[in-house]
Amino acid sequence: MSRNRLGPTNAQTNSRLSQYPNVQRSYWSGSDMTETQIQRNIVANLAIDPAAFDARIKRHEISVGIIGLGYVGLPLAIAFASKGLKVTGFDTDPSKIELLNAGKSYIRHIPSEKVSAPVTQGILSATTDMTLLSEMDAIIVCVPTPLTRHREPDLSFIVSTAESIAAHQRRGQLVVLESTTYPGTTREVMKPILERRGLVSGIDFFLAFSPEREDPGNQHYDTTTTPKLVGGDGPDALRLAVSLYGEIIGRIISVSSPEVAEATKLTENIFRAVNIALVNELKVVYEAMGIDVWEVINAAKTKPFGFMPFYPGPGLGGHCIPIDPFYLTWKAREHELSTRFIELAGEINTAMPGRVVDRVAQAMNLRSGKSLRDSRILVLGLAYKKNVDDTRESPAFKLIELLEANGAQVAYHDPYIVVIPHTREHPQYAGRSSVSLDRAALTGFDCALICTDHDNVDYRLVVDASALVIDTRNACASRGITDGKIVQA
Ligand SMILES: NC(=O)c1ccc[n+]([C@@H]2O[C@H](COP(=O)([O-])OP(=O)(O)OC[C@H]3O[C@@H](n4cnc5c(N)ncnc54)[C@H](O)[C@@H]3O)[C@@H](O)[C@H]2O)c1
Repeated sequence: MSRNRLGPTNAQTNSRLSQYPNVQRSYWSGSDMTETQIQRNIVANLAIDPAAFDARIKRHEISVGIIGLGYVGLPLAIAFASKGLKVTGFDTDPSKIELLNAGKSYIRHIPSEKVSAPVTQGILSATTDMTLLSEMDAIIVCVPTPLTRHREPDLSFIVSTAESIAAHQRRGQLVVLESTTYPGTTREVMKPILERRGLVSGIDFFLAFSPEREDPGNQHYDTTTTPKLVGGDGPDALRLAVSLYGEIIGRIISVSSPEVAEATKLTENIFRAVNIALVNELKVVYEAMGIDVWEVINAAKTKPFGFMPFYPGPGLGGHCIPIDPFYLTWKAREHELSTRFIELAGEINTAMPGRVVDRVAQAMNLRSGKSLRDSRILVLGLAYKKNVDDTRESPAFKLIELLEANGAQVAYHDPYIVVIPHTREHPQYAGRSSVSLDRAALTGFDCALICTDHDNVDYRLVVDASALVIDTRNACASRGITDGKIVQA
């Protein structure tokens, strides 16, 4: 009611008036409103004071809401709660909410004690009830950003989250998007949804983008020790987001806009995708020359400057590297630009599973006179990278698909994935179980294909008991295991 008179579309007037209650009083007193209504309007229109908000952040008097409690959101929630800030996690998956409220972790590398301690203290809880968003001072969004079937950005999770926030938004909140996405998402997609009901970013609420740089399983860097980038929609949003993250992270880097922060995150992941494609290409070339690409990379990395090692593999995996570069490719088209480097890297990396299967077929044919048809293959490691339980976009699925299409019978072993969960891309494999890895089981296969080099696998046993080992990760040689039956791929 009161806000219509001040007119949210006239943001400057609104802002100026809202800073001066007396100016407001004279503005309203000419109307037919009662004194009570006028007072209510003044309170409702009082400027949100960023300095006061900042002071409350520093005194840990704010409540933090985290939307999306996955690989990114859960460690972030724990980080804030462990500093004594009150955290409420929001997720649409009721099983995660139930486990978190019972003090249990559902992510392998996060021990349950890290969840149970703040839950028991009453500073961490979780809910599916989005109406509670109105009680949060800061809201951080960590929902998925996958690709559609046509490999275009799927912003449906960001859009539905923004709509949930908008439905329960109140003045004075800080909203930060962390999900990886193309430059412009924060201000072109989220901001209009949050402003739909008349609130104005920078005046009534504060909006920022701060990309997650989580690397699950990394022994050296975690959520609190990895420097954090922040770009705000205006100086107050930037100041508040920097202040908020400053409570849990040692180094915060401010950039000039949300778009710069969005582009920086994509640049980091494109850099990786392109360099992995380069070593994948070099692997094929050196293979033909009888040169071991792993030895070459290990030698090259002795140069103390100007070289950074990347390693070949059976194909890209995970929620970031195979996906994020195509967010930029899509956005570049809006500017009538093509991203040839990114496309080429995608092409090379996508071809890797097919090359690995060719190597398996060739090695079996040459060494045992067998074809893939009716052969028994053990895929060793299903997770997309070592020592994690995450199968998203794992190249192992593509390998299984190609091997089975060639008539092979495929089983897998992964100590972290006892049963294959439902995945959007490969629902047909859900429910399959990991086979045990003992001598008797290994001798029943024609070939063991090392797809992921988990540390807790006995590679000596694998080599001793298998007829043929195809190693896509240099898992054997890097552990000093050499044998004529090992083939690099
Ligand atoms: N996993 C990583 O290592 C990593 C690293 C850097 C950046 N990122 C980025 O962070 C974002 C999140 O990734 P993640 O790995 O944590 O994903 P995730 O799938 O592990 O978790 C996302 C969570 O969001 C929930 N969710 C989905 N829609 C929701 C909605 N409308 N409301 C509330 N909750 C909802 C899901 O149930 C899930 O629990 C992505 O943009 C990703 O690209 C991930």
